[in-house]
Amino acid sequence: MSRVGAERKESAVSDKTVKLIDEANKTTELPLVGGTMGPECIDIAKVYKETGHFTFDPGFAATASTKSAITYIDGDQGVLLYRGYPIEQLAEHSNFLEVSYLLMNGELPNKSEFDNFEHQVTHHTMMHESLKNYFRGFHHDAHPMAMLCGAVASLSAFYHDDLDIEDPEQRKMAAIRLIAKMPTLAAAAYRYTIGWPIRYPKNSLEYCDRFLHMMFEVPSEPLELNPVAAKAMDLLFILHADHEQNASTSTVRLVGSTGANPYASVAAGIAALWGPAHGGANEAVLKMLAEIGSPDNVETAVKRAKDKDDSFRLMGFGHRVYKNFDPRAKIIREMCHKVLNELGVSDPLLDVALKLEEAALKDDYFVERKLYPNVDFYSGLIYKALGIPTEMFTVMFAIARTAGWAAHWCEHHETPGARIGRPRQIYTGAATRDYVAADKR
Ligand code: CMC
Repeated sequence: MSRVGAERKESAVSDKTVKLIDEANKTTELPLVGGTMGPECIDIAKVYKETGHFTFDPGFAATASTKSAITYIDGDQGVLLYRGYPIEQLAEHSNFLEVSYLLMNGELPNKSEFDNFEHQVTHHTMMHESLKNYFRGFHHDAHPMAMLCGAVASLSAFYHDDLDIEDPEQRKMAAIRLIAKMPTLAAAAYRYTIGWPIRYPKNSLEYCDRFLHMMFEVPSEPLELNPVAAKAMDLLFILHADHEQNASTSTVRLVGSTGANPYASVAAGIAALWGPAHGGANEAVLKMLAEIGSPDNVETAVKRAKDKDDSFRLMGFGHRVYKNFDPRAKIIREMCHKVLNELGVSDPLLDVALKLEEAALKDDYFVERKLYPNVDFYSGLIYKALGIPTEMFTVMFAIARTAGWAAHWCEHHETPGARIGRPRQIYTGAATRDYVAADKR
């Protein structure tokens, strides 16, 4: 089975098959389907019809839920490609908006395509004025992910009746609106919690700079920002922009597969991202590092993470797909030192993180299970150095991942014959029984 895809046709059904022999000795031949790269998949679509059996794969560890041409991961080699371009090259040469265009359109834009895309994103950044009332409905200490999730879902109330999701142009516009408005809504959520007036987006600024101004500028004085801050944020956004069929993207695709409104679909993705096993890990990492407090306590933390009777896990460690270094973590680790230096920030938690990484990487438990630092291990330290509060870390992730969610939602709707996602189950409840009247129970 070839893992190198150069000579393989896109989404080819190979002439190879896998034979399934059931208890009655009946053989079902299942075709192998390959993509341009990566392992071939056994096409199990006819298994139930032919054998009467479902397939069982809790957590979808061995299941390809869709064909996709957006992002490729080789977890054993630590490879991540957006539309074929290595993440390392995009991190070095590209910017978040260009990457967003690439994810959505499949190719890097030429100058006029980029200018046009940037113009569109820049001119759809405003949120409806009445959304201010929405934010005012929250208690002051509401978590910003809760507010963001609701705010994005509420966009579907503004763009619903007139929206035709069968029209590719309208789909593209929904994607642009999502990428454009996400920073505005995110900054509004933050400012509401600290009691500052919500700032309007400034179109003269670039994407990340505009976001930082909406976060930190006060009406009473101009904001002086170190340009390193916007650049660092842009790089983090590139690294977080997409990651194939992760939990939140699969959620967006599943909800989208029902024909739901794109804003409602992405709101569902935000909810999925929030969990600490997924995007919520960046917030959890910072809390964990603060709790560990000093490099002297690292040994105890590692011991606890290995103890099966203790629910404590090393947050920012491990990944379902990467069984080698997460390539994003490698870039962020290097960047973390640089950004902290350039901003003149010294953070004792960086020493805790470095010691923790060193201890885990030479510990048999982590080595045997191939648990490496993931993208979230160092990202929080950079966001902290940029002045972003811990509760906003997952919101930052959501802003960046919106590019991927939008691209996947569009791709689902572009796929001929795409069907509603509807998994089956192994039922473990009570067998059929008769209703018992209340006085007889
Ligand atoms: N600390 C201690 N043990 C761990 C950890 C960890 N962070 N991660 C996995 N393990 C152990 C786990 O207990 C299991 O051990 P055993 O085989 O003895 O039962 C083994 O490693 C395999 O773990 P798993 O839970 O079956 O793996 P999974 O693929 O289902 O989960 C994961 C992947 C990322 C949810 C998990 O590694 C984890 O909880 N990590 C911490 C949270 C985190 O950093 N999440 C961010 C992921 S990357 C960004 C993103 O997705 O948004």
